[in-house]
Amino acid sequence: MTAAVLSARPGAALSGTVKVPGDKSISHRSLILGAMASGRTTITGLLEGDDVLATAKAMQAFGAVVTRTGEGAWTVDGRGGLCEPDDVIDCGNAGTGVRLIMGAAAGYAITATFTGDASLKKRPMGRVLEPLGLMGATWLSREGGRLPLTLRGGGLAGIDYVLPMASAQVKSAVLLAGLKAEGPVTVVEPEPTRDHTERMLRAFGASLTVSDHNDRRVITLQPGARLTASPVDVPGDPSSAAFPIVAALITPGSEVTITGVMLNPLRTGLFDTLREMGADLTISNRRDASGEEVGDITARYSRLKGVVVPPGRAPSMIDEYPILAVAAAFADGETVMRGVGEMRVKESDRIALMAAGLEACGVDVEEEPEGFIVRGTGEPPRGGALVETHGDHRIAMSHLVLGLAAGAAVQVDEPGMIATSFPDFAPMMRRLGGCIEEA
Ligand code: S3P
Repeated sequence: MTAAVLSARPGAALSGTVKVPGDKSISHRSLILGAMASGRTTITGLLEGDDVLATAKAMQAFGAVVTRTGEGAWTVDGRGGLCEPDDVIDCGNAGTGVRLIMGAAAGYAITATFTGDASLKKRPMGRVLEPLGLMGATWLSREGGRLPLTLRGGGLAGIDYVLPMASAQVKSAVLLAGLKAEGPVTVVEPEPTRDHTERMLRAFGASLTVSDHNDRRVITLQPGARLTASPVDVPGDPSSAAFPIVAALITPGSEVTITGVMLNPLRTGLFDTLREMGADLTISNRRDASGEEVGDITARYSRLKGVVVPPGRAPSMIDEYPILAVAAAFADGETVMRGVGEMRVKESDRIALMAAGLEACGVDVEEEPEGFIVRGTGEPPRGGALVETHGDHRIAMSHLVLGLAAGAAVQVDEPGMIATSFPDFAPMMRRLGGCIEEA
């Protein structure tokens, strides 16, 4: 049974070397592309979190044979396309899972019904349904484009689509649908977002070009590619590495190394920001894993100072603002985080929940419609609160990290949701010397 509450209390310095789980974005994509391709895709280092397991189950329902062969080791036997599932596809908590699978499914003349948990049912799907509809897919959803919804695909036309927001999920959904479109598909990004779909599509045999025009990134996919299975070695997730890294930076005397972390520049905005705050972060052993650069990151306790985070950096660290806000709470001075309105439509309204949780822990936070400001004193915050996470894994992990170095223990509710992205989080933090226990 999952604990009702998890508690992190201040303790000794953290030390040791650990590996974080496989990257969530690449894990979802490896299963989806594997199912769409012909042949056997072998995957190593797959994140075995609930979000990705839901995608594995979904790909099975769409006709692929998905097999676990060992820890993080999976094979996907794809049929070179998706078949109509005979039941509802439940993507659990996973926005990435459902949006990418809808894009993939839209290319085929099949009907599929999607649902998810309470959080996913509140999240906007219109951002994906709109371009898929312009390409020729049809759908029926709950009010406001919410799940559950039924999508009918097939016979898609090409499209030239300017993304209304910086979203790798929407870009990826359009590109995956475009694989079966009759003409080329072009997606224009207001700001570059994570490019795992582009890199992996190429590895699986698709033909696409990427160019930059007037600060906008333009991606064009040529139709008619037949995807062929390709091995995927999933690198460590920088979004998960962020938690032990910030824990080491704020806990006096700590030194922690995380091995095999993906260093794709469209994902490393947090590390740049932490360095600007004065963090002692070093990267060694840079190498390649399936077309992505990885390295080992060492973080040592540092006295941090507040910074203004450039809004243009948001897409490269959109999931990391909650843990950055924790680092900011220990820093001396103001940390200004703006241009992050997208945080409000993640697994929870992350601006509101971080503001509420940090304030409950004695931190001075100012909320804005599209951002927030954290004012640190350079001293550890008071802590000593029970934080409501609304079932958001990153809100839970962020406040637990805060509790490791605050004045008093911090508790979080619904800790079971941490398993969506980082099932080993609490045991790993304990291996590093952190006191995180069921309360
Ligand atoms: C993801 C894209 C981001 C991110 C999510 C994973 C992806 O979402 O927040 O956790 O794998 O494409 P948006 O595309 O909504 O920004």
